[in-house]
Amino acid sequence: MHRRSSPHRENWAAGVSPPAANLAVLGGTGQFGLGLAWRLALGGARVVIGSRDGKRAEEAAARVRTGLDAPGAVSDPARGLAVSGATNRAAARAADTVFLSVPFAGQEALLEELGSELDGKLVVCCGVLWPPGSRPETSAAEEAERVLRRAGAGKVRVAAAFQTVAAGLLRLPPGAAGAEPAPDILVFADGTADRETAARLAELTGLRAVPAGPLRKSRAAEAALGLLLELNRGPARHAGLMVTGLTHRP
Ligand SMILES: NC(=O)c1ccc[n+]([C@@H]2O[C@H](COP(=O)([O-])OP(=O)(O)OC[C@H]3O[C@@H](n4cnc5c(N)ncnc54)[C@H](OP(=O)(O)O)[C@@H]3O)[C@@H](O)[C@H]2O)c1
Repeated sequence: MHRRSSPHRENWAAGVSPPAANLAVLGGTGQFGLGLAWRLALGGARVVIGSRDGKRAEEAAARVRTGLDAPGAVSDPARGLAVSGATNRAAARAADTVFLSVPFAGQEALLEELGSELDGKLVVCCGVLWPPGSRPETSAAEEAERVLRRAGAGKVRVAAAFQTVAAGLLRLPPGAAGAEPAPDILVFADGTADRETAARLAELTGLRAVPAGPLRKSRAAEAALGLLLELNRGPARHAGLMVTGLTHRP
């Protein structure tokens, strides 16, 4: 298990066994998904990277298993990170919880195609409506839920997380220079149980997750990304958000 990123900000879930962690990262061949898959696997999860092209997914999984060329990363195959690659459909089928890491422009078509595969599962949407803040009346996660229900996944549960965490940060080893101070992961879902599950899985990345309300509140995280993009235009490349003053888990 990797080091926790901030000794003074213990993960809320520290000491609590994560739920069965058979995870998929759809669109996991991209900048964000690669970092997310790597961090989740370092945290002990079995991860299947999904792609529209199974071969591309297998190549991405091989890169993740050897540390993504991150500065200071341990590239030791003997650590046996449990990361494999498959088509998005096969990855979704293999997982209990599915992280969605495709651009918003491709989200609807992918979810329509996969609808029944995702029924009964927890789908954690990491996406953002583009450009951020362009449709304040909804969010990428709410749109994902709407499309999945229409596609027949009546029992799917949808959460939103990671909207304000930069891909570059996830691609640094936990605790590495440049990865501190670590941002928080804001987590949204309708219902405490799904929010908790998503938060505990998100914390496998070594960051602290802050359960931050129902799914519709993810609109605020998307709007905040607009600000972070401004900040990341400068020398900073992984500006993120940290919530202060929380004396107990919300
Ligand atoms: N980059 C960040 O810092 C960051 C931070 C927080 C959240 N996010 C969110 O995370 C998601 C992924 O970000 P990213 O930067 O990794 O994006 P990306 O590199 O542009 O795309 C990720 C992957 O999605 C797949 N994809 C691309 N277009 C698609 C389409 N039309 N239909 C289905 N799949 C498609 C591609 O995989 P295949 O070609 O292998 O299928 C691609 O490698 C986005 O929604 C973004 O808003 C990103």
